[in-house]
Amino acid sequence: MKRILLLSLTVVAVAFIFTACNQTAKNKAMVKKELIGTHKGKEVFLITLTNKAGNVIKLTNFGARLTWIEVPDKEGEKDNITFGFDTFESIINGDPYFGSVVGRYANRIAKGKFTLDGVEYSLALNNGPNTLHGGPGGWHSVVWETGAIEKTKEPTVVFTLKSPDMEEGYPGNMDIKVVYTWTDNNEIVIDYSSTTDKKTVLNITNHAYFNLHGAGHGDILDHQLVIKAASFVPVDSNLIPTGELRPVAGIPMDFTTPHTVGERIGENYEQLILGKGYDHTYVLDNKEEVDATVYEPVSGRLMEVITDQPGVQFYTGNFLNGTMIGHGGKPYNYRSGLCLETGHFPDSPNQPEFPTTVLNPGDTFKSQTIYRFSVK
Ligand code: BGC
Repeated sequence: MKRILLLSLTVVAVAFIFTACNQTAKNKAMVKKELIGTHKGKEVFLITLTNKAGNVIKLTNFGARLTWIEVPDKEGEKDNITFGFDTFESIINGDPYFGSVVGRYANRIAKGKFTLDGVEYSLALNNGPNTLHGGPGGWHSVVWETGAIEKTKEPTVVFTLKSPDMEEGYPGNMDIKVVYTWTDNNEIVIDYSSTTDKKTVLNITNHAYFNLHGAGHGDILDHQLVIKAASFVPVDSNLIPTGELRPVAGIPMDFTTPHTVGERIGENYEQLILGKGYDHTYVLDNKEEVDATVYEPVSGRLMEVITDQPGVQFYTGNFLNGTMIGHGGKPYNYRSGLCLETGHFPDSPNQPEFPTTVLNPGDTFKSQTIYRFSVK
């Protein structure tokens, strides 16, 4: 008995010393990996990244998703500002897209069909007559490999995936790598890269929901938004692009100057009615460093979005209805979170005028998106 006690004390002491040394060495920057369960025979981990400022984000390799972003408000009070779940079961069975990497094709493909080099490909329909977010078995729903956690100065995690030829109906064996870095400046840097052995299409994004009051604390209608986009992509009643790129000047879609999300969301404007709110891709000007900002005046939290992608899907949580119960038992209600999903335009494989989403063998797709948090 005594020996067991002594052994346990020794283990605790060694673990403590290890953590402490680790913290001193890295000045508190840390990566922690915990096994939380097994899904379809694969181990699922919760990964906690702590930066030198002592702020924490959590991720899981199920869907390569972000599940917690804890940042201070202007008083220094920390809260989680993204949607997610506390337990393995709720992560696996909860909303499929909260914080996840979405692929192969984020957003909609009309009628689940597209043609490449004269060959028509058919995808599973999971959104009325369309395919949404890569189909029901898309990359949000699979367990990714949690790669060697890279020994970088700032805490990093690497997720990789092999997507087989004809997975969900898409051609080509693909290798996908997503690297999340949590910088000491409170930036989540997401680096995506991907290759294929057959011509295919790709539109990859992260589907995090944000509420800068704190997730589960009211709606996002008072958040002040800027999107540096002179035009947006109008949609039809199935949320499929009509092909037009419409200037935002003079209509309630204009966020080139700051407006609260709620100011014009209820206006009798055809696109807001079709979208049941904002659910539209903005055509980024890509002229300045920062592409979009969200500011919430009560907490003083500011989020900046920086991307090399041509578009951002601005979605105001119009389909949330409070049935998803997230961290701390809080329901995620109608319009209680917003998404800024960077990427290409919906249905590009069927829209010859849109920037191409074709990836050829021998080419490597690379892109970066940064979500930067501060207060003002
Ligand atoms: C789409 C919404 C959809 C949501 C599902 C967003 O990217 O724009 O229409 O309901 O994803 O989570």
